[in-house]
Amino acid sequence: MSAPGALERLKREVVARTGHHYYVDKDKLLYERSRERMLARGLTSFDAYVSLLEQGDSEEWRRLEDAVTIGETYFFRYPDHFSALRESVLPRLIAARQNVKSLRIWSIGCSNGAEPYSIAIVLRELLGVEVDNWRIALIGGDISEKVLSAARAGRYGAWALRTMPADDRARYFDRDDQSWVLKREYRSMARFERQNILRLLSPTPPLEWSGFDLILCRNVLIYFSPQQAVEIVEALGRCLAPDGALFLGHAEATLTFSTHVHAATSTALPTEFAQVAAPPVIAPRNYFPPSVPPLPLALAPMQKSSNDAVVATDGVDRIQQLADAGAYEDAERLCAECLRQQPTSAQLHYYDAILHQVSDDPVSAEAALRRAIYLDRAFVVAHHRLGMLMLALGRQAEARRSLQTVLRLAEALDQQSNLPEGRGVSVGELGDAARLQLAALGAVA
Ligand SMILES: C[S@@+](CC[C@H](N)C(=O)[O-])C[C@H]1O[C@@H](n2cnc3c(N)ncnc32)[C@H](O)[C@@H]1O
Repeated sequence: MSAPGALERLKREVVARTGHHYYVDKDKLLYERSRERMLARGLTSFDAYVSLLEQGDSEEWRRLEDAVTIGETYFFRYPDHFSALRESVLPRLIAARQNVKSLRIWSIGCSNGAEPYSIAIVLRELLGVEVDNWRIALIGGDISEKVLSAARAGRYGAWALRTMPADDRARYFDRDDQSWVLKREYRSMARFERQNILRLLSPTPPLEWSGFDLILCRNVLIYFSPQQAVEIVEALGRCLAPDGALFLGHAEATLTFSTHVHAATSTALPTEFAQVAAPPVIAPRNYFPPSVPPLPLALAPMQKSSNDAVVATDGVDRIQQLADAGAYEDAERLCAECLRQQPTSAQLHYYDAILHQVSDDPVSAEAALRRAIYLDRAFVVAHHRLGMLMLALGRQAEARRSLQTVLRLAEALDQQSNLPEGRGVSVGELGDAARLQLAALGAVA
């Protein structure tokens, strides 16, 4: 690795430009991501690469920003958010805007467009044939040009559609070889632009960042320092119409906001919505952390729990990147290769299971989950995933057993702590989810 001075300087600048405080203690990751760019530029000296950036090469900064940002997303992420949007928030906004027939919606950190396009699908369903009589500004913004190009293309691999039932896929997308292309009527509803959300904190934020009826800023601020994240959320409050709503991701929900923020959960909408009528305040009127934790369907970085784990972490990071980019066959190949090197890594077997689920192979997914659990009996998230798989396969007795194991293991843990592979879901939240699922099965533990 090059002299720490260059990496330190680069880190400071990356954090200042992108807000990604996340890199403060991730020198190795930042080095690897920027080294890829260094090699792409044909340079062999890291110091020379940092100097190039310090000379203000804006094109290279854009490329580096693409490389250091994390674009994990998928359609209809957090089903409870989408239930709230479909059943309460959007119908209320539509009713309130009947006279003007206009809606302004902003998806911040929209990545490959899965989030704003999910909104487009819901809006079309709600408005029906009326949709053409409405002026809908549905804006997706992101700092990364690369993801914005993907968003404009509207072409997705199975990974971005991993939680969408097959008949919905067929309804909203056209199949093109290994890809799904979002139908034109949904694509035409959104427009995408390069934005840096940090501009909200500048003395002169863009004038057009105002009057939004709905803002989604989910899984963007998790990479920021808590203080900056809070400042941005409070600034977003000023971008909302007086009766507008703001949705944050579940990890952002742990931030402490000013007293002006009214938290609303999707199960408590009617009461919380009463607060909308209150005199204007300079912060979000409605802020939605998910009420039910998102089930850990997606990949997450590995926990460093054994000697092998550092190597496994590198492999898993790469597997995750490939999967995020829709290259899930490459992700499967890499996972198989990592497993050959580390056949006793419970985490790798867990990832292997997810990838089998993506390729609709529940038999292999089940076998991989059982291997993960055999190797790590206390792997709570793997037990939960197995329970969900059993439910999906109609094997209720086994589903019940797995979910009861989740509850038993969860009881012995700190309820506030985050679960390995749980994407920020806490022990308590996963326990609550398992309890609900057991209740639905008629078997409250
Ligand atoms: C993890 S993705 C979240 C995607 C989507 N909102 C969701 O929840 O599924 C985070 C996105 O935020 C973008 N991002 C990161 N820093 C940003 C910034 N300073 N301004 C705007 N977008 C940013 C990244 O490029 C990335 O696409």
